[in-house]
Amino acid sequence: MCGIVGYAGRRGAQPILLDCLKRLEYRGYDSAGIAIVGKELQLFKAKGEIAVLESTMPEMEGSVGIAHTRWATQGKPTTENAHPLTDCSRKVAIVHNGIISNFMELKEGLLRSGHTFSSETDTEVFAHLVEAELKDGLVDAVSKAIAKIEGTYAFAVVGEGHDEIVATRRESPLVVGLGEGENFLASDVTALLKYTNRMVYIRDGEVVRVTADSVDIFDSKGEKVSREAEKITWNLEDAEKGGYPHFMLKEIYEQPEAIHDSLLGRIEGEESEPFFQDNRFSNVKIVACGTSYHAGLVGKYIIEELARIPTTVQISSEYRYSPVARENPLVVLITQSGETADTLGAAREAKKRGNKTMSIANVVGSAITREVDYTIYTRAGPEIGVAATKTFTTQLVAMYLLAMELGAQNKTLTAQARRSMVGTLRNLPRAVQDVLNQARVIEALANKYSDARDMFFIGRSINYPIALEGALKTKEISYVHGEGYPAGELKHGPLALISKESPVVAIAVRDHTYEKMLGNISEVSARGSPVIAIGFEGDTELSKFADDVIRIREIPPIFSPVPIIVVLQLWAYYIAKARGCPIDKPRNIAKTVTVE
Ligand code: G6P
Repeated sequence: MCGIVGYAGRRGAQPILLDCLKRLEYRGYDSAGIAIVGKELQLFKAKGEIAVLESTMPEMEGSVGIAHTRWATQGKPTTENAHPLTDCSRKVAIVHNGIISNFMELKEGLLRSGHTFSSETDTEVFAHLVEAELKDGLVDAVSKAIAKIEGTYAFAVVGEGHDEIVATRRESPLVVGLGEGENFLASDVTALLKYTNRMVYIRDGEVVRVTADSVDIFDSKGEKVSREAEKITWNLEDAEKGGYPHFMLKEIYEQPEAIHDSLLGRIEGEESEPFFQDNRFSNVKIVACGTSYHAGLVGKYIIEELARIPTTVQISSEYRYSPVARENPLVVLITQSGETADTLGAAREAKKRGNKTMSIANVVGSAITREVDYTIYTRAGPEIGVAATKTFTTQLVAMYLLAMELGAQNKTLTAQARRSMVGTLRNLPRAVQDVLNQARVIEALANKYSDARDMFFIGRSINYPIALEGALKTKEISYVHGEGYPAGELKHGPLALISKESPVVAIAVRDHTYEKMLGNISEVSARGSPVIAIGFEGDTELSKFADDVIRIREIPPIFSPVPIIVVLQLWAYYIAKARGCPIDKPRNIAKTVTVE
């Protein structure tokens, strides 16, 4: 997730672009850059937040330009990899939000035909593709270049000697703002609301030419399209959260896209590019904190099921001081920020013990990725709400991908089983969207139980860690005491606390533990606890046992943690909302903890 903006008008473009860009900083902040068409093409980029760009850039003249704030997905967050990126002649500059999944193949072809590259990004190939096609104007060149691209994108392109911006999109957002004698474009209306509230949304596959006095949209066949502008009534603050009242809710709703992006280019063929070549691991140790630790617990089930490799999971601050075992595991460190001190310390300890290390991180170039041997990046985009949501579901996606790779190496996962898993992975964004479509039902139930002081979350097998994560979400943002338990363990102690004042959320999907779960639900209802069950659609049995049922569409049980945690994220969110809690900034906890 990155932010792009463009301006074509009569005023100086530089301050306007910068002002618009600052409103997109929530989309990424590891580097920023600007390109302005004056007498010649001027370009300036800086590593770090937009403030760094602002304080270091020279004055630039010209009233057409583009700018970018980056959230790295391919290529470290350095000045060279910052956008705008240029072609060989430095006469074309482009900004991009998205991922070009076939960039390696395109880059090899371009290198063979003599192009030279100055960054490690996937994006740069597009600048060279435009350069190669630039004979009949920018619109023509951009249209020809996108025909070669696979992946997701919103591009904006400027060229020396051209008083226009040409932009296009596929699956990444792009909006044009209409002014008087000036026009704008951006990833998000937020960036433009100070200047105009008349917006034209660009659709997938369209190419748009923006000048000071005109906006021309072309469809994929090159035919001109006419489209009415829409009037936006949001205020600036609402717009930053995309119209959602909290970042947490916005990020919950971004999950279909985040999951889709995290899979992009990684499940295409039978043999997608491996994360690592080494297959000598007889065991895996996963180390993490907080929500990332829960992703690790789910990962253990997946790796053991698909790859049959014994896997242990440990909390980072415990791992560091644990005895050194004789096995030589692959140590997998899960951390969305890549900066958590306990997990960084654990990575160093693992190296000291002579183990190979892998991180699963969301922030490209973050500290942990510089310490380990391999990294799988989740591609959730920046997460601002303190409670982790989209970074958790994309960590689960990384666990499926890793387990499938280990399973293929170990020959425990047949090609047919892999194909069927790939099919389900492709459908995961839809499974999550189905849950989001039920938000009103979940909200009503959360309101019904929002007065409770204690709540229990129970599950078995792969959904036991999801019970833990549901409890964590609930306690961190609503301050309700939430306890997650393996359902079979209730009878060994916690049943003493069960009463009609303590609702129990029970995860009961039809898997090999289903009958036992029904038994556990009966145990708690017999003691007066109201039970809210989460189960599969079409399961009529469940409503005989539970007071309320939330249903998700049936999915192979090994993938059920993904839609189920989305139910529980919404559950926690609406409980916290009903209780009037400061959802994005809960008391006493921080998004990234850099102390031990
Ligand atoms: C903090 C946050 C948690 C997060 C944990 C690990 O405690 O409040 O939400 O799960 O850190 O963060 P990491 O960046 O390592 O995933």
